[in-house]
Amino acid sequence: MSVSIAVIGLGYWGPNLLRNLYESRACGRLIACDLDDEKLEKIRTRYPAVQTTRDFEQVISSPEVDAVVIATPVSTHHPLAKKALLAGKHVFIEKPMAADSGTAAELISLAQKNKRVLMVGHTFEYSPPVIKIREIISSGELGEIYYISSSRVNLGLHQKDVSVIWDLAPHDFSSIFYWLNETPARVSAMGRDFVQKGIPDVAFINLEFPGGAIAHVQVSWLSPSKLRRTAVIGSEKMLVYDDTENIEKVKIFDKGVDYKDPETFGEYQLSYRAGDVISPRLDTYEPLRKEMLHFIECCSTGATPKTDGANGLRVVKTLEAAEISLHEGGRVVAIQP
Ligand SMILES: NC(=O)c1ccc[n+]([C@@H]2O[C@H](COP(=O)([O-])OP(=O)(O)OC[C@H]3O[C@@H](n4cnc5c(N)ncnc54)[C@H](O)[C@@H]3O)[C@@H](O)[C@H]2O)c1
Repeated sequence: MSVSIAVIGLGYWGPNLLRNLYESRACGRLIACDLDDEKLEKIRTRYPAVQTTRDFEQVISSPEVDAVVIATPVSTHHPLAKKALLAGKHVFIEKPMAADSGTAAELISLAQKNKRVLMVGHTFEYSPPVIKIREIISSGELGEIYYISSSRVNLGLHQKDVSVIWDLAPHDFSSIFYWLNETPARVSAMGRDFVQKGIPDVAFINLEFPGGAIAHVQVSWLSPSKLRRTAVIGSEKMLVYDDTENIEKVKIFDKGVDYKDPETFGEYQLSYRAGDVISPRLDTYEPLRKEMLHFIECCSTGATPKTDGANGLRVVKTLEAAEISLHEGGRVVAIQP
């Protein structure tokens, strides 16, 4: 079955989704919808075959549209996705899925009731390094995972409607939850709104997982250089993922410390290991292409997406808890399963 798709929102990110849909040649008709005619003019110039409109209601009432891809500001995700699901369309929503967990949960039940696909744009779960790290962790090569530490900072685009937590942390949260195959039980966060009052631009977030691992995620729009660096520390080996590297994004260090039980009281021994550093071969496809092809396939077959509504909801619950903690001076907040 050929799937006709309307991309809603063609600001910064939407054109990337449209380009991947267009170049994949895997879908039927493509429509671009934005409130801003200047954005649509750019699309018409670049893709004369793509139909454009400013009218979202017209898009979802058209029987010729099977699915919508929503890349609008976060506050509009729920109202637009809800209308599209009620009109019988399959829905892809950019991250974060919704502005709060209640409305995210409502979208999940609406999709279930209407038997429509609901997919969330956690792009990193489709990226070669992130998938490779999941394979490495699952194989047991790193041993027991002790902790994960992640920095996603740069002199970034300050958003008008969401804090740096809602803008940047979805990437780290979705990757870490995917790697550990777990959702955190508790979260705490410290942050500040240095530039625009009321919109935090730096945050340090701590996560505790039921299995014993802990994680620290640093997100900031106020940093001199761009860092996209994650360290995964295991009992056997350690791994560093640097997404700013062109090649060798992932490195596995055969490093660690072994503790030997003391033979006599007070005499314990630590032995330090420093072996080879290996950089595994990674696939080279564009994650967004893989993500869009997966959405089209799910719409055609009815399969459940890898990043489905539940996957999106666990990220939203953690963002919500982190934001509460930030506003309450770093109080540890439990995340309800
Ligand atoms: N997956 C990723 O790596 C990634 C990267 C960047 C942004 N995003 C996400 O993409 C989404 C959009 O972010 P952006 O930076 O492109 O925002 P943006 O503000 O640049 O663009 C949003 C566009 O949506 C349009 N719009 C708003 N309401 C509309 C409506 N009712 N109907 C039609 N169009 C409407 C606006 O006119 C604007 O052109 C956000 O959810 C963001 O988190 C994801």
